[in-house]
Amino acid sequence: MTQNTENRPHIVLVVGSTRPVRVGDQLAAQIAPVLAETTGLEVRTVDLTDLALPLLDEPVMAAATDDYANAHTREWSRIVRDAAAIVFLTPQYNFGYPGGLKNAIDYLYAEWQGKPALIISYGGRGGGAGAAQLRAVLEFIGLRLTDDDVAITLARDAYGPDGRLVDPATALGDTAEIADAGRALGALVSAPAVG
Ligand SMILES: Cc1cc2nc3c(=O)[nH]c(=O)nc-3n(C[C@H](O)[C@H](O)[C@H](O)COP(=O)(O)O)c2cc1C
Repeated sequence: MTQNTENRPHIVLVVGSTRPVRVGDQLAAQIAPVLAETTGLEVRTVDLTDLALPLLDEPVMAAATDDYANAHTREWSRIVRDAAAIVFLTPQYNFGYPGGLKNAIDYLYAEWQGKPALIISYGGRGGGAGAAQLRAVLEFIGLRLTDDDVAITLARDAYGPDGRLVDPATALGDTAEIADAGRALGALVSAPAVG
């Protein structure tokens, strides 16, 4: 008998970089199995590049409606609504996080409320400054974040001449911190939202 896996409890791992040449997708492929093992949940990677959301084009702000005008908004809404938790994998750009990721966040409102979430940032200096900005936004919207973010420092020589990571596993290094964060996220998923 074929099993319906569509609505199985799962985590959505959002790839926050949309550049045509990037490393976010390579890191996501390394991180997903660690999160799956430590949360006990299936991890589904959602790449903002595939989602291809235009600059916010809903006529009514999400906080005031759940009747979206556009099919792309309804698709994104369903992805977030169906997820047991969200992991934001974000690069650091100019001390912040990518505009494309902020755009995707602004599309929705109620879907985010009470949603367990983890921030994993990366960059030459680990991406902590961008993660702090993202945390402020996500807390404002009402997600339930793990106490600690994960910040991955990528060495300059981890990149090949093509702008991609030569060896993503080596670039990522020790995954103990991601495993700890996965366990913390799993605990948030199990804990009922208060209020
Ligand atoms: C527009 C832009 C701004 C950047 N600013 C920072 C920065 O402020 N701090 C940092 O550590 N790295 C910075 N970087 C380096 C990125 O973190 C690094 O290139 C990373 O690989 C970007 O992720 P991506 O390849 O998945 O897009 C910047 C890169 C870009 C493209």
